[in-house]
Amino acid sequence: MVRFENVSKKYNQLEVVKNLNLEINEGELVTLIGPSGCGKTTTLKMINRLIEPTSGTIYVNGEDIRKQDPVQLRRGIGYVIQQIGLFPNMTIAQNIAVVGKLLGWSKEKAAARVEELLEMVNMDPASYMDRYPKELSGGQQQRIGVLRALAANPKIILMDEPFGALDPITREQLQGELKKLQAQLHKTIVFVTHDMDEALKIADRIVLMRDGEIVQAATPDQILRNPANDFVASFIGKDRLLRSPDEVKVEEVMITDPVTIEYNRGLAEALERMRKSRVDSLMVVDDLGSLLGVVTIKDVQSALNRGGTVGDSAAPHPIAVYTGQTVREAVFIMAKHNVGYLPVINDQNQLKGLITRASLVGILTDVLWPDLSSSHNVFTSTTKEAS
Ligand SMILES: Nc1ncnc2c1ncn2[C@@H]1O[C@H](COP(=O)(O)OP(=O)(O)OP(=O)(O)O)[C@@H](O)[C@H]1O
Ligand SMILES: [Mg+2]
Repeated sequence: MVRFENVSKKYNQLEVVKNLNLEINEGELVTLIGPSGCGKTTTLKMINRLIEPTSGTIYVNGEDIRKQDPVQLRRGIGYVIQQIGLFPNMTIAQNIAVVGKLLGWSKEKAAARVEELLEMVNMDPASYMDRYPKELSGGQQQRIGVLRALAANPKIILMDEPFGALDPITREQLQGELKKLQAQLHKTIVFVTHDMDEALKIADRIVLMRDGEIVQAATPDQILRNPANDFVASFIGKDRLLRSPDEVKVEEVMITDPVTIEYNRGLAEALERMRKSRVDSLMVVDDLGSLLGVVTIKDVQSALNRGGTVGDSAAPHPIAVYTGQTVREAVFIMAKHNVGYLPVINDQNQLKGLITRASLVGILTDVLWPDLSSSHNVFTSTTKEAS
């Protein structure tokens, strides 16, 4: 659909895009990502001839774009930029239909299209159509920017950090909407971002650039599993790199400071500790930190009248995993015994940590549904969870 063949761009003697070769397939959403100044915007703008290459050829639909009239070319290519670029003195409806007007649409056709598009992003046409851009939130305005790019139904859409100026929550919403739209519309989208989470979330393929060159072009999954070099790995961030549950050891995902109590402590103290730490069970240990059992809030409450120590009320807890076992083994044990958490012990039976369902979720979504995961970070999680 879009093909770069040995494309370079020089400003004076500075080569900002260097001999770029890239093919973007029909229906593909490709993100260009890389450090500031690496040539993303330049690459994007060469596709609709807002910038002309110094050398090389770009093909759109198999045709050399130098042979096409730039205005004609741009009508077939939607374009969304970070600064939204809505016309302040036009209503939302007029903004969306602006390309349609150039194409000579009738009033009825324009109105129908505006309505259809607004409904696609769940904005009630009646209440938004006649407003002006400044009467909309930033996120709503950016949605209109996207709709405007879609209005004339172009096959190709270029997006230059379209969600960059939005707050994180709105940004995630719009990313989700874009994914949904894309699943219906199958546009060919080139999307510039410098946010790796965004790229991982929306891209079919990620093109990572540095100093005007492509360092790696691959699916999110491939990039996470096999970063081409240290630059890619560091750009992705160590925490996002994927490993299988056969490779990850339980100590990497466990909570390292489970709430414990010594066996000879009183029951009231146990209750107090649960209350303070907001957990409903405690790991019972001896003076050396060896795991003796587990005591739950129910155990303590029913024994409170009888008195005695925590050790008297604790249920021995033989189900545990050893350090060095894998996450896959831990999941298997939890499923087999139908338990919600697993103490992690070493071969001297000392309690080293605790695996909870929550601490496993991140790594499992990584491996099973990499598309779903965005900024999970189980490896460095230190949050204390109720066990
Ligand atoms: N008109 C120009 N004249 C001279 N140099 C330019 C011009 N436009 C861009 N450059 C330079 O080209 C390089 C690539 O710019 P480009 O805008 O493509 O970067 P980018 O990857 O989009 O960066 P950012 O993430 O900051 O938007 C930069 O070093 C920039 O300074
Ligand atoms: Mg840019």
